[in-house]
Amino acid sequence: MLAPPLLLLLLLLAVPLGQAAELQLGLRGSPRGTVSPAFLSLTLDASLARQPRFITLLSNPKLRTLARGLSPGFLRFGGTSTDFLIFDPHKDSTLEEEILSGLQAEEAQPGFAAVQELLLAQWPSQEKLLLTEHSQKKHKNTTITGHTLDILHGFANCSGFHLVFGLNALLRRRGWEWDSSNAGQLLGYCAQRGYNLSWELGNEPNSFKKKSGIYIDGFQLGRDFIHLRQLLSQHPLYRHAKLYGPDVGQPRKHTQHLLRSFLKSGGKVIDSVTWHHYYVNGRSATREDFLSPAVLDTFATAVRDVLEIVAATVPGKKVWLGETSSAYGGGAPQLSNTYLAGFMWLDKLGLAARQGIDVVMRQVFFGAGSYHLVDASFEPLPDYWLSLLYKRLVGTRVLEVSVVGADARRLRVYLHCTNPQHPKYREGDVTLFALNLYNVSQTLQLPRQLWSKQVDQYLLLPHGKESILSRRVQLNGRLLQMVDEETLPTLHEAALAPGSALGLPAFSYGFYVIRKAKAIACI
Ligand SMILES: *[C@@H]1O[C@H](CO)[C@@H](O)[C@H](O)[C@H]1NC(C)=O
Ligand SMILES: *[C@@H]1O[C@H](CO)[C@@H](O)[C@H](O)[C@H]1NC(C)=O
Ligand SMILES: *[C@@H]1O[C@H](CO)[C@@H](O)[C@H](O)[C@H]1NC(C)=O
Ligand SMILES: *[C@@H]1O[C@H](CO)[C@@H](O)[C@H](O)[C@H]1NC(C)=O
Repeated sequence: MLAPPLLLLLLLLAVPLGQAAELQLGLRGSPRGTVSPAFLSLTLDASLARQPRFITLLSNPKLRTLARGLSPGFLRFGGTSTDFLIFDPHKDSTLEEEILSGLQAEEAQPGFAAVQELLLAQWPSQEKLLLTEHSQKKHKNTTITGHTLDILHGFANCSGFHLVFGLNALLRRRGWEWDSSNAGQLLGYCAQRGYNLSWELGNEPNSFKKKSGIYIDGFQLGRDFIHLRQLLSQHPLYRHAKLYGPDVGQPRKHTQHLLRSFLKSGGKVIDSVTWHHYYVNGRSATREDFLSPAVLDTFATAVRDVLEIVAATVPGKKVWLGETSSAYGGGAPQLSNTYLAGFMWLDKLGLAARQGIDVVMRQVFFGAGSYHLVDASFEPLPDYWLSLLYKRLVGTRVLEVSVVGADARRLRVYLHCTNPQHPKYREGDVTLFALNLYNVSQTLQLPRQLWSKQVDQYLLLPHGKESILSRRVQLNGRLLQMVDEETLPTLHEAALAPGSALGLPAFSYGFYVIRKAKAIACI
């Protein structure tokens, strides 16, 4: 007989766990679909160039180390400011000029570290300004210089990202067709430097009227893209360059209409169809929204709407989320930068791949607001670590999976082949990721034929007393933090005993690699 304290312990453990939900894994069939190797990609908001000197923050070595961790991928430079950036080929401001303009006279001749420090000190007030401008819809034209393009390209190239640059679509002749002369100068500059980029034209054209008073319909925008394609073909370097668009916002009725007519007129010259998605408004979002199955499911509906339009107009064309995050308007303060944000992010990655979205570009890697992956002190936030684990563990082939014995909207599961680049794992291994939106622990039971397999758990939990609103996370009980500016920590698995159930505490998420699962689709 068990000693009473031990018996009590067992009872305590058993009560909250309750019945285990059973997993049904599609290991025999072909994959449900395949996503791009750059599936998890990043954005930088074009507002970063609103004051050109702040672009220099991208030279920070820690920021580059963090970006490199998430490569390969696309780095999209775009956003509302895209349509207010005007290239000036003659103003080739050097770093010093830009910095000095923000310095007091006695601080002249700063070293690199001092410059970074100064910029960081000025950044919070710049951030405030950007967010205010954005919310008041007061958009001002800004000059973009060759120097800004050099830094952007250098940042992307040194971090293993391919830069996607959004050109200004609001420069118009007679208020109607696109005036490409400024874009032509910018292309010329990049071509001359040998920068290999991809291109977009305009950001959220569905709200051009609100932002600038100019209304452009989908048909005309399609013609503008054809014009841009012709312009690109004049440069040998860009003859086969990729062009993405139209970067429409949420697929509401009038936006759906614009997308449809755009694709009919310009669909043939684009390489992927891009659209944007946010679940909620950052100013009114609540903690409950981030944990609500109903809110998370709204994304699936939006994806279906877009895929339907694409299937009817340019069937077979890839569809990308060209800009996406939890909450628009810079994110939800105190929420979008915490462990809580991971529910929207991980679920979006899971659902997007399952429904056939090829690439998801996360707004933003670094920049104003609270939805960034790396904060203004260059500290990685929970969604950074979540992205890093995703990148390391999740491969491009998507498999079927479901749960029986729990509400599948609250216990959400996704399955992919494991990333074959991971040194520890082999062909045939699979990665399950799961989110528990129940307010109590849940357990997942693998099917009996997998009870002999080793499972590596990567469970992410909030770290510290703010619990779910913490900005720090632990992986399998260990706080995640950088070793030094140039070194990311090792992501240690916890090997579970064969046959054990997968336990997820209340409101948590994690990854599980099932080794030697011999999934046919993964071989
Ligand atoms: C930006 O510049 C363009 C071209 O000069 C001009 O047509 C447009 O009105 C300007 N927009 C703003 C917001 O100043
Ligand atoms: C980009 O980086 C690679 C090495 O990572 C280098 O060989 C290449 O020249 C760079 N491209 C440009 C245009 O700077
Ligand atoms: C440009 O980059 C793309 C994506 O990385 C690559 O496929 C292509 O070969 C490159 N083009 C040139 C001209 O280097
Ligand atoms: C958990 O949620 C249920 C409703 O879904 C509620 O009745 C219960 O009080 C909650 N329990 C805790 C510990 O919050």
